[in-house]
Amino acid sequence: MGLSKFDVILVFMVALLATPALSDLVLSKVDRRVDLTSQVVRITSTLKVENAGSDSVSEILLVFPELQIKHLAYLTATRNEGKGKGKGSAVSLPIKAVNPNGMPPALSFYSITLPSALGKGDSLILEVFAVFTHLLQPFPEKITQADVQLVVFSESAYYLSPYAVNIQSLNVKLPDGRVESYTKVENMKMDGSEIKYGPYENLPPFSYRPIAVHFESNQPFSVAEELLREIEVSHWGNVQVTEHYRVVHRGAQSKGEFSRLDYQARPNIRGAPSFRHLHAKLPPRAHSIYYRDEIGNISTSKVWHDSKKTELLIEPRYPMFGGWRTSFTIGYGLPLQDFLFASEGKRFLNISFGCPMSDLVIDNLIVKVVLPEGSGDISVSTPFPVKQSEETKLSHLDIVGRPVIVLEKTNVVAEHNQYFQVYYKFNKLSMLREPLMLISGFFFLFISCIAYTHADLSISKSSASYLAKQQWDEVRAAIQQVQNIINKCLATHDRLEASLRDLSRTGDVQACKAARKAADGLLKEFSKELKPLLTFLHSSSSASQIYPKVEELIAKERELQERLMGKHSTVVDCYEKKSGGREIENRVVPLQQRITTLRQEIDDILEFFDEI
Ligand SMILES: *[C@@H]1O[C@H](CO)[C@@H](O)[C@H](O)[C@H]1NC(C)=O
Ligand SMILES: *[C@@H]1O[C@H](CO)[C@@H](O)[C@H](O)[C@H]1NC(C)=O
Repeated sequence: MGLSKFDVILVFMVALLATPALSDLVLSKVDRRVDLTSQVVRITSTLKVENAGSDSVSEILLVFPELQIKHLAYLTATRNEGKGKGKGSAVSLPIKAVNPNGMPPALSFYSITLPSALGKGDSLILEVFAVFTHLLQPFPEKITQADVQLVVFSESAYYLSPYAVNIQSLNVKLPDGRVESYTKVENMKMDGSEIKYGPYENLPPFSYRPIAVHFESNQPFSVAEELLREIEVSHWGNVQVTEHYRVVHRGAQSKGEFSRLDYQARPNIRGAPSFRHLHAKLPPRAHSIYYRDEIGNISTSKVWHDSKKTELLIEPRYPMFGGWRTSFTIGYGLPLQDFLFASEGKRFLNISFGCPMSDLVIDNLIVKVVLPEGSGDISVSTPFPVKQSEETKLSHLDIVGRPVIVLEKTNVVAEHNQYFQVYYKFNKLSMLREPLMLISGFFFLFISCIAYTHADLSISKSSASYLAKQQWDEVRAAIQQVQNIINKCLATHDRLEASLRDLSRTGDVQACKAARKAADGLLKEFSKELKPLLTFLHSSSSASQIYPKVEELIAKERELQERLMGKHSTVVDCYEKKSGGREIENRVVPLQQRITTLRQEIDDILEFFDEI
């Protein structure tokens, strides 16, 4: 199996010999680490840059050969502020594509701008991190179910740079498995699953020494040719995310018959490079999660929750072999308050841009943010450049439609999973528009029925919108009363807590019990007062959108009440039994955590109601 086709790169050498040096910079030390343990190639280069000339320099050039540049997905340069080898804070530096004069066309240049110029004799340490997709070439290109997947990685053993390099090394980390072959050059050694090149000393600018490594990689080469993420913001408390995936296995093409029997008997041997699962890491508190394909809902997906994340394991209907495709959709809801914030009179959505599946490479990512109707003055802030446009989405109750921000990016990897922000202004009255339209819709239907049956009913004074507004006012008044009652409940809770503090001061158990009795009575009263209001809100069509929020508030207050009573009884009990302070604490602490959380959540909901 020859690698001669990869030697073509040698042509560079000829072109490069005639290139002039760009400045007096010298790289006194270069260490490169290449990570080939997934389908994506990640290269971290640590450069020690020294200014050997007399003019100060504020730009540093990076060079990539054509072979790599079209696969470059992500590039950052950071400067380590700390002195020497210590761990200082890393500062990320601006970086842009440039076209210096007189350079060979087969090379692409990027320029890093330094925050302050590098003076004569000064040096600094840069870390350059580059991520490439589709750089590993399957070879052979077609394999059967019984074969392992072999891929080729091509690089230069010498760091390609417009500057002279004093001393350098290269480290290539491979996945576990067979290494078919690798280019042998001087000063190299194979060490387990790592190949070490160098050190090489005193090489002139643009030195290039092509190498290739041919090795086994059974990592999932899972690629989304297209991913459409739709993020819909509803001020009624939810952010709905829907993601449409078109996934293909981009490793070596599978040839010959596929035997499911063989695969099931020995999936690790028969079909090693195939993949069965995709793993999505969703935000914490994601809910109403579903996963479906063209045929329908798939219930074999599994979900785990903890406080930091929600994990979803997706299992397509068949194992994915080289060249095979599948399309599916996942959807989930997120609590609005985790992602929507206010700042300087505007609201802003702060949510992650990339894909929740970190193994997946995305050729084409489209992120659509659907804002509530009535949003305006929209601006977007992204941590890297994306193509941006706007459209409008019309759904059944909209009049002018919802503004949609469309962001597009090609060649997306896990490193792009960063937060972006959409800022907008919103008129709170617009929120009433949907309930109002529902009401006036019914009203017109009503009018037409009357006209049709020639009934003699005159509704002279009331216009449709007047009626609608009246109904909404009633709803608002009812909600206000609910809020007042809940506030009274909270005040009662506070008195109950105060009685416990008194108890710890005075030791007067009887006074504490009396306070409890009074609180029980009051809370019962409040609960009675709430009942008719809830019945009204439940039956009013104008309140249908907001009623779930009211229910949530009531449920949370009820749980808080229970926990508080539990805490109260526990403490009183301990006092009567004359238990020690340590024991009281042990019994109360678990209750107290939940009490604090509930109280916070109730305050949040009350605040939400204040805004309508
Ligand atoms: C699939 O599940 C979603 C969410 O649970 C549900 O809304 C939808 O109706 C289901 N579709 C089918 C075809 O069962
Ligand atoms: C967006 O959210 C992330 C994660 O919570 C946070 O680190 C970041 O500061 C937020 N950005 C803005 C602009 O609020």
